[in-house]
Amino acid sequence: MLKDKGYEVDINPKDRVLSKSELIKNLKNNSYHAVLCLLTDKIDGDVFGAAGNAKIFANYAVGFDNIDLEAAKKRGVMVSNTPGVLSEAVAEHAVTLMLAVARRIAESDKFVRAGKYKGWAPMLLLGSGFSGKTLGIIGLGRIGTKTAHIASQGFGAKVIYYDIKRNEDFEKEFPAGSIEFKPSIDEVLKEADFVSIHLPLTEQTRHIINKEKLAMMKPSAYLVNTSRGPIIDETALAEALKNKIIKGAALDVFENEPKISKGLLKLDNVVLTPHTASATEEARSKMAEVAAQNIIEALEGRTPPNLVK
Ligand code: GLV
Ligand code: GLV
Repeated sequence: MLKDKGYEVDINPKDRVLSKSELIKNLKNNSYHAVLCLLTDKIDGDVFGAAGNAKIFANYAVGFDNIDLEAAKKRGVMVSNTPGVLSEAVAEHAVTLMLAVARRIAESDKFVRAGKYKGWAPMLLLGSGFSGKTLGIIGLGRIGTKTAHIASQGFGAKVIYYDIKRNEDFEKEFPAGSIEFKPSIDEVLKEADFVSIHLPLTEQTRHIINKEKLAMMKPSAYLVNTSRGPIIDETALAEALKNKIIKGAALDVFENEPKISKGLLKLDNVVLTPHTASATEEARSKMAEVAAQNIIEALEGRTPPNLVK
C-alpha cells in the first residue's frame, strides 16, 4: 500500500528485534517521515529524538504500552494502533486456551507422542468442561466483548465481568440472566470458573493479579491471559499453580518476553503459547493494512483513523 502510494519503504533486514542503539542509528541515518513499529520495539524519547522528521509512529499492534506517549506528545509525533481487526482472532485464542487447559490438550499431546498411550481408560487425562460454566471477563473492551459472546453463544457460559464502567447496552445483547457486571475484580475472581484477562498494560494494571488475588479464585478455576504479561505477577502465578491454589492457567503473554519463568515451564497445569493470539493470516494482514493506512493518512495531512492518546 505504501509503495503503491509512491513512498520509499525500508524494512528491517534482520529477522529479529533491533536493539535500541541499532534502531536509533538507523533512524538517524535515514530521515524517515513515518515509522511502522512492532510491540517489541521500545519507543521512548531517545527514539523519537532520532527520528526528527517522523510525523507518525504506527504500531503494528492494538496494545501500545511499548510507546512512551508523553514523549510523543512533547515532540508532536502521532502514534496509532490497530484496534478492531484482531479482536476476533484474540478472542478465539482466549477461548482456545480455556479449552486447551481445561481439557489438558497440551499435556495429552505430549503424553501420546511420548508413547504413553496404552489404551482407553475411564480416568485417563480427566479434565473439566467449559459449557455452562461461569466465565469472568476482566476488561470489557473490544476483545473482552468478543470473548464473552463466543463463550455465551457457543458454550452457554454465564458471563460475569469487571470493567471501570458497566456497559448496559452490551448486556442487552445477552439472554436475561446470562451476563452480570461486578463492581470489583475481586468479585469476578471469587465466582468465576474461568477468568480471562483483557486489560491494557498501564501503571494501574501492572501486577493487578498478584498472590492475594490468585488466592481469591476457586481451587477449581482457570486463569487465561491474552493481554499483556506484566498484568500478572508471574512468580506468584507459578507458585499458585504449583500449590494448586488454582487448577490451571493458559498464557499467551509473559512478564519478561521472550523469557518465561522457570517455575511455569515445569508445570503440567499451564498451557503456553508464544504471544500468538492475533496470529491468524486474516488478522495479521488486516493489522498491516490498518498500520499502513494510518501512515498514509498522516503523510497526506489527514488525521489517521487510529490515533492513540
Ligand atoms: C498484540 O499483543 C497486540 O497488542 O496487538
Ligand atoms: C467414547 O469414545 C464413547 O464412545 O463413549
